Amino acid sequence: MKAKRRVTTSPDVRRGGFQRGPTPRRKQSAAGSLPTAPTRPAPRPAAMPARIEAGPERRAPTIEVDLTVDLGRGLLLPNPILVASGTFGYGTEYGDVVEVDRLGAICCKGTTLKPRIGNITPRVTETPGGMLNSIGLQNPGVDAVIEKYAETWVGWKTPVIVNVAGESVADYVEVVRRLDGVPGVAGIELNISCPNVGRGGLQFAIDAGAAGEVTAAVRRATDLPLLVKLSPNVADVRPIARAIADAGADALTAINTLSGIALSPSRTKPLLGNIYGGLSGPAIKPIALRVVYEVSQIVAIPVVAIGGVTELSDVLDFLAVGAVAVQVGTAIFADPSIPVRLVDELTAVCRARGLGTYAGLIGTALPPKPGAPSSKGVEYRP
Ligand SMILES: Cc1cc2nc3c(=O)[nH]c(=O)nc-3n(C[C@H](O)[C@H](O)[C@H](O)COP(=O)(O)O)c2cc1C
Repeated sequence: MKAKRRVTTSPDVRRGGFQRGPTPRRKQSAAGSLPTAPTRPAPRPAAMPARIEAGPERRAPTIEVDLTVDLGRGLLLPNPILVASGTFGYGTEYGDVVEVDRLGAICCKGTTLKPRIGNITPRVTETPGGMLNSIGLQNPGVDAVIEKYAETWVGWKTPVIVNVAGESVADYVEVVRRLDGVPGVAGIELNISCPNVGRGGLQFAIDAGAAGEVTAAVRRATDLPLLVKLSPNVADVRPIARAIADAGADALTAINTLSGIALSPSRTKPLLGNIYGGLSGPAIKPIALRVVYEVSQIVAIPVVAIGGVTELSDVLDFLAVGAVAVQVGTAIFADPSIPVRLVDELTAVCRARGLGTYAGLIGTALPPKPGAPSSKGVEYRP
């Protein structure tokens, strides 16, 4: 069944398109000069700076920008800049170098039922515009994750979303059952790019039936907010996204890494110990943009974009194709301060445009009604 679209029209949407609703909350500025609707532009020319330094007695009020985003089921993020699973550990490792409390949310390293030592080395290599990794979901297992980190997470303002992986529906359900009700766990992100042992090892993420089945089973097991992460390694992502939405996910995240290989210097074998690795970084951004663009048009639940975000223009691009938030991944390895900087820069751009919320930036590049999918080909137009 096609999911019902939950969008609100907005006079602020520039290209006659529509806007997905991250249910942004409005805050009242001290000067009471916020727009009356969250999506309506403030009565200020876009080019005019939000803050006018005109002397202490005649200083113009600074617009308070509301960046909050509701991912459903009570998962309200302070802002739409998250850190991606596998690139920020469990958050605790970065406490000395990053203002963790200023992030929108932390998606922690993939967590499985039993501890995993990960794949054999080499596990990472740089590639043009990105990197390949085959870490192999190294993690201490769900019980150790809860024991070691949950208490710290409780004290953070930033919600922690636990990324969950498994090899069977029962695996996912059991991990989620153990996380359910644990203080400090704000939500679940299902990494479904994992081999489904019950179906010959084919990934859950590449089959609409399997993706829907695991989502539905986890949905029954918990009331925690549930995000499900799409793989780009499919011919048509839309039926999979639909199946996940219909099975009760609260939000989609897109995308996971693309499957690739690199060669050893001697060219006698693949470089990575696991042969295959996941490609990430700026090189995959156009693909992530395309997936978010296609999926945003056909599901009503929020979409969180991931893939090659390194600077503000990337964030704005993903918002324009319908994402309500973004995750920063590989870029963190080069500079862990990027996500917090993006929060400041997004705030600044909203102020400069006289926007009380960033909602008006969402969906501006989407067509008025769903267009042809990329699976119909990229060269020919019927
Ligand atoms: C080293 C590394 C480890 C990752 N581990 C996970 C993981 O455990 N679970 C998961 O869902 N995604 C994992 N990812 C994928 C990222 O969360 C993200 O989807 C992907 O890297 C694309 O974003 P980026 O281009 O900003 O890095 C990992 C990525 C990298 C680079």
